[in-house]
Amino acid sequence: MSYDGVNTGRRRFLVAATSVVGAAGAVGAAVPFVGSWFPSARAKAAGAPVKVNISKIEPGQQIVAEWRGQPVFILRRDPSILTHLDQLNGAVADPESKESRQPTYVHAQYRSIKPEILVVVGLCTHLGCAPSFRPEIAPADLGASWLGGYFCPCHGSRYDLAGRVYKAQPAPLNLPVPPYFYETDDIIVIGVDPKEQA
Ligand code: FES
Repeated sequence: MSYDGVNTGRRRFLVAATSVVGAAGAVGAAVPFVGSWFPSARAKAAGAPVKVNISKIEPGQQIVAEWRGQPVFILRRDPSILTHLDQLNGAVADPESKESRQPTYVHAQYRSIKPEILVVVGLCTHLGCAPSFRPEIAPADLGASWLGGYFCPCHGSRYDLAGRVYKAQPAPLNLPVPPYFYETDDIIVIGVDPKEQA
């Protein structure tokens, strides 16, 4: 049986994701990522909660964990990023996530339990590609108004660093926020609501 590029990319991702659990900081922003993400049936079935150590994530840095066969972006935002989110309320389609999927216990605008730590499912809400992490300010290819965010390489959807989609994009909704809680200041558990913990 031959392996195509998607399968090869998936194997690489799983290696990275395995190292995330328990040693998240070691992966850092260097996790390679393919443009598309196609979870296998086996991966979808594996719905167990995932523990991630976030202590080594530096401000402005993102790691990628895996939950239910899906990539989960975990970003430590610095104060300047939070300021930019305030500035973008008029540019995004659903600034308080009234139409988008996120638990009621996360902040409406920052879309997280703690303002500095973003946790979102890294699948574009258009057709499911993996958006690229683009934290730079005004890079040449994204334009002078870009304040950092996620860019989907498949059809060009743009999101800010809260996973909120800009207006008039192919993607209809913000990136989903999964259920999660803080087991300690350094450990988050993805896949379980706070009220469900033992
Ligand atoms: S899948 Fe992201 S824009 Fe189409």
